[in-house]
Amino acid sequence: MCQRYEWARIPRCYVIIRDFGECQEVAGPQYSLSLYTLAESVKAKSILEVGMGWGWSGRAFALSLENRPPAKLTSIDIVPERVKRENRRAVIDAGIEWNIIAEDSSEVEIDEEFDLIYIDANPNMAHADFLKFYPHLRPGGLMIMDGYGWQLGPTEAVDSLSPQYPFVSIPYGNSASSHAVYRKPVPPNGKYANRVMCKECNTLVNCASWKEADKTANAHTMLSGHCAAVTVESRDINYVVIPK
Ligand SMILES: C[S@@+](CC[C@H](N)C(=O)[O-])C[C@H]1O[C@@H](n2cnc3c(N)ncnc32)[C@H](O)[C@@H]1O
Ligand SMILES: [Zn+2]
Repeated sequence: MCQRYEWARIPRCYVIIRDFGECQEVAGPQYSLSLYTLAESVKAKSILEVGMGWGWSGRAFALSLENRPPAKLTSIDIVPERVKRENRRAVIDAGIEWNIIAEDSSEVEIDEEFDLIYIDANPNMAHADFLKFYPHLRPGGLMIMDGYGWQLGPTEAVDSLSPQYPFVSIPYGNSASSHAVYRKPVPPNGKYANRVMCKECNTLVNCASWKEADKTANAHTMLSGHCAAVTVESRDINYVVIPK
């Protein structure tokens, strides 16, 4: 089956659901499918790519972001003209917000938070780019380094960061190169809390864990007869506890 597409099985046939293009300049459509799948895994709504290049990564990200509007892609590159027309078209057609920053990554100033950050600009700056943009990754978000095992810069960067930031690597194409992926941990009592909310009596309780939130919600519904909503942001879980 042609690898240019992501396919979905429906009764009696396959349909094309995502067209990643031929992706010649990088390692073929597996490169795109890896990025698309990683973006889907964190339900990304905001992505930063450092190194827009020909636009293959941007296109893969845009096809994931369009599943969760409103969504935004931020692309940094010193040569933004490099992006291919078909990829520019695909990002625009995805209907997402697209912010292109034509600057050296070391000069860029950013004050946003992202669900996923992709480092693929100057290989010799991979280590510096990781440290510079890491504070802008939300807890639970993914940091992806391209070219691990293939280019010296990212390989040395990932190997030297690994004791503190354990990566997993996803080989693509001819398997010589990988996406090295690190998931930022979620602090137990951070902004991404486990909350119980009751709209009927305006109760809001921040809990230390999901288990505690679930217990609190159940106790509240039992005592008051109200419905209580439980939100576990770190796991993107929402449900309502209904009184029995
Ligand atoms: C390998 S390409 C990126 C490929 C791209 N991710 C794709 O899928 O098409 C690297 C890009 O990084 C850009 N670049 C190199 N050094 C940079 C720097 N210091 N700051 C920003 N961009 C840089 C180059 O202009 C080039 O377009
Ligand atoms: Zn209540």
